[in-house]
Amino acid sequence: MLIFGGSLSKVLASRIAKRLNKEASVAEVFRFPDGEKRIRIRENVLDQDCVIVHSTALLPDEAYMEVFIMVDALKRSGAKSVTVAMPYMGYSRQDHVFRDGEDVSLEVMIKLLEATGVDKFIAFDLHSIRIPELFSIPVIHLSALPIFAEKIKKEFKLNEIVLVSPDMGGIRRIKEISEMLGNIPYATIEKNRDLVNGEINDSGLNGDVRGKIAVIVDDMISTGITMVDAAELLVKNGAIKVFAYATHAVFSKGTDELLQKSKIEKVVVSDTIVMPIYFLFPKLEVVSIAEVAAEALKISNF
Ligand code: R5P
Repeated sequence: MLIFGGSLSKVLASRIAKRLNKEASVAEVFRFPDGEKRIRIRENVLDQDCVIVHSTALLPDEAYMEVFIMVDALKRSGAKSVTVAMPYMGYSRQDHVFRDGEDVSLEVMIKLLEATGVDKFIAFDLHSIRIPELFSIPVIHLSALPIFAEKIKKEFKLNEIVLVSPDMGGIRRIKEISEMLGNIPYATIEKNRDLVNGEINDSGLNGDVRGKIAVIVDDMISTGITMVDAAELLVKNGAIKVFAYATHAVFSKGTDELLQKSKIEKVVVSDTIVMPIYFLFPKLEVVSIAEVAAEALKISNF
């Protein structure tokens, strides 16, 4: 099995390869003056199972395009199979029509991936549990939740904490991690977003957090507003401290500062999106999903 890293996920590809006692393989990415890219595979991939690790974040359109042409380069070079491991799947929030006249960009990305000839797809904590159903190729849906559960067990006395989902869409996730921790209590926040600009209009809390350490668990942090607003609501409702866990750090400009200045004590994210150095801040801790991805690759019929 050969592991190739896309331009934005080289570090993660090396971490995964290392856990499989391999070196990540090299695909040459050449950029023309007008911005177009050309991929060249410099290794012999004939009859080999190949894996492309590339999260489509930070520059999602560019990252997707690179995946499409890398799959093509591998197929043309005779690869036996191509698996795309996309630890963070860009456009996964656009999985249905919110208002008349809109596109469903996630479906477009899936169609394009399949059209290039991808054989198998690996993802982490997809925004909705139904996304794998949109594919016609096999999808292995992995999660950072077991890593978070282990960390929570080590860092807290379980009877002192309450898990919190910052929105109703995260109920399945919060129930799952509560089960992993022995069915500890959880609370949920009802958050209403404006469909035009995505801003949060209002939110309310279901459940009791008084005198507890609140541990918010979400699939992603983007602007950071969901986490910061949730932390304020939890403190207002009597939580003594607030911690935030999220699989994907889809940070945008200012997220780092907002989280650092917030009521949150510590923000734990995974390395599905390898963090540019300018997004690091003192309250941030990054855990790796490399082991989980490597184990899945070991047992996925290669
Ligand atoms: C929403 O449904 C997601 O689960 C996250 O809560 C959301 O994407 C976070 O966005 P932001 O950090 O911009 O509030």
